[in-house]
Amino acid sequence: MSDILTDKVVVVTGAASGIGRAIAVSAAQHGAKAVIIADLTETPLEGGAPAVQEIEGLGVAARFVRTDVTQRVQVDALVEAASEFGGVDVMVCNAGITLRSDGADVSEEDFHRLMAVNLDGVLFGAQAAARQMKNRGKAGSIVLMGSMGGIVGAGFTVAYSTSKGGVVLMAKALADALGPDGIRVNAVCPGTIDTHLLRTTPDVAAAAKKFAERTPLRRIGKPSEIGDAVAYLGSDLSSYVSGTALIVDGGLTSVV
Ligand SMILES: NC(=O)c1ccc[n+]([C@@H]2O[C@H](COP(=O)([O-])OP(=O)(O)OC[C@H]3O[C@@H](n4cnc5c(N)ncnc54)[C@H](O)[C@@H]3O)[C@@H](O)[C@H]2O)c1
Repeated sequence: MSDILTDKVVVVTGAASGIGRAIAVSAAQHGAKAVIIADLTETPLEGGAPAVQEIEGLGVAARFVRTDVTQRVQVDALVEAASEFGGVDVMVCNAGITLRSDGADVSEEDFHRLMAVNLDGVLFGAQAAARQMKNRGKAGSIVLMGSMGGIVGAGFTVAYSTSKGGVVLMAKALADALGPDGIRVNAVCPGTIDTHLLRTTPDVAAAAKKFAERTPLRRIGKPSEIGDAVAYLGSDLSSYVSGTALIVDGGLTSVV
């Protein structure tokens, strides 16, 4: 498709399924040298062949590393696995969850469970990648998965919106902290994207139809459209882009 990620080693969390998988496959299609897939399980939620198989089919090296992003030691080991290919160049902290019940009365237990994946897991990934990039004296790109839920709030996603708002500001703060080492940090904020998460979170699935009608482009997004946005942020085409939140939502959050 392009060669914008030539020679880059790309690590993606939550990459067995959905948007993460599309990011991993896009990386291979845009010329990455190797792609490391991190997830709780290698089996895609939507069924079909594991991502590693698809990426190897494109002639690109791929590895699966079983990782729970809420466990710092596992995330450190994940990033260490990139050493086989010379170290991580592009770290994509994508793994994230929603809650079945996420209104104003969200339980303390659910709130903390969500934050552990959507914020702790993202921070652990960024920290591990930054540490390795600095140790190797490498510039690099770190992409954090936000959401339109981190740009605008909704009454049925109280914890989720809180976490994604945090991701956007984490990207800005880390961009400042890591910029002097040549490390860029950005967030990507998708709108409604057709994945297992969307289809299996009842309130979100119900809202998605209305969102599609209100979206200037009049449709929900494809996972590959997020994959392409992340490929841009991982590549040298975005060499002066840091601390930004790239909204990829068909225009939905631009209108009322
Ligand atoms: N689908 C959408 O409409 C949408 C919109 C905006 C943002 N996002 C964000 O995009 C990201 C991916 O969402 P998706 O729709 O592809 O979801 P998904 O549920 O289809 O896939 C998420 C993947 O993350 C993995 N995962 C969950 N917890 C994990 C953990 N602790 N450690 C490692 N992996 C874990 C799951 O196993 C799964 O493979 C999330 O951060 C989500 O918040 C999605």
